[in-house]
Amino acid sequence: MMDWKVPFINLSAQYEEFKIEFDEAFSRVMKCGSFILRADVTDFENEMAKRLGVKYVIGVNSGTDALYLSIRALDINLDDEVITVAHTFVATIAAITHVGAKPVLVDIGEDYNMLCHKIEEKITKNTKAIIPVHLNGRMCDMEKIKSLAIKHNLFVIEDSAQALGAKFNQKRAGSIGDVGCFSLHPMKILSVPGDGGFISTNNDYLNKKIRKLRDHGQTTKTDISMFGFNSRLDNLHAALAAIKLKSFDVGIKKRREIADFYDKKLSDLPITLPCPPSSGTYYDVYNSYVIGCERRDTLVEHMINKKVEVFVHMGVPLYEHKKLSLDGAGLNNNNYISSRIVSLPIYPEMSEDNMNYVVESIRGFFK
Ligand SMILES: Cc1ncc(COP(=O)(O)O)c(C=O)c1O
Repeated sequence: MMDWKVPFINLSAQYEEFKIEFDEAFSRVMKCGSFILRADVTDFENEMAKRLGVKYVIGVNSGTDALYLSIRALDINLDDEVITVAHTFVATIAAITHVGAKPVLVDIGEDYNMLCHKIEEKITKNTKAIIPVHLNGRMCDMEKIKSLAIKHNLFVIEDSAQALGAKFNQKRAGSIGDVGCFSLHPMKILSVPGDGGFISTNNDYLNKKIRKLRDHGQTTKTDISMFGFNSRLDNLHAALAAIKLKSFDVGIKKRREIADFYDKKLSDLPITLPCPPSSGTYYDVYNSYVIGCERRDTLVEHMINKKVEVFVHMGVPLYEHKKLSLDGAGLNNNNYISSRIVSLPIYPEMSEDNMNYVVESIRGFFK
């Protein structure tokens, strides 16, 4: 394993921060054998619903299942069309194809999110939903998306896997669409030791249906009204996530400070910074801090030699994976952006020395 001077994230530091509480929760849950859909899950769901300002949160076993179960709950089916972006993790599009629906891809803008003025031309009589993906901790323009959805009678599924805590016009990711889908994967702002996720909604019908879908179609052991799935957030994971939630707001503040530091210290270099800076309409949470650079691959090599762990996420657009048979025609910004992007380390436990070292390493590349 590489001995990084600056790792991309630091999960062991998160463990150390709450070690006593984590260990207590672990032994409490293990001792009483409360593993599946117990009080820790309900408590986490209620707390998260309060934080997001929504009526319901339903814990599921991943962000991927959050998307898939939402699509199922909305009765999106064979030959329906769902508009989304190619610049996302493959799970967004997989969830659409798993019900036999067709993903229709729109291009992205300079903030790496869906270009709203490109949506309407893709709407057909078969379009059922839009899935805006709030990438890297920045929300899409939900006002435009919501008004298009109302105009054309479409559902909105917010892929908020990377945007817990982010806001657009004071409204939180996951609180605007019909449903919001979140991931608790270790690379996300709030994570569990493994896979986990949840769905947010204000809709009574969807709440009930998704609860059934995640648990074998049953409301109680004696009431099974549909064939469902096994997709529950583990009780232990819910207990651990609830502990981490206590430092969530401080963590976001720190992420935004690091982003601000990078913004200032890198602004004179020939690179593209996350754009535009986090202010006004947008409240960004920086799940990732992504820069763009013409000589991206050489920069990555340079950073790795400096022992700074950087990642190229979505460097190959999904439509370039030929076996997925996706139509990427006209996604010119997506092509350009994918060839340039690289994500820098950003995490609340990051020391000032490490922040400076990342900046010095990048600056060294351009000397
Ligand atoms: C934008 C996006 N959507 C969906 C997912 C899927 O989440 P998970 O890994 O929890 O299944 C992820 C995370 O990997 C993601 O980044």
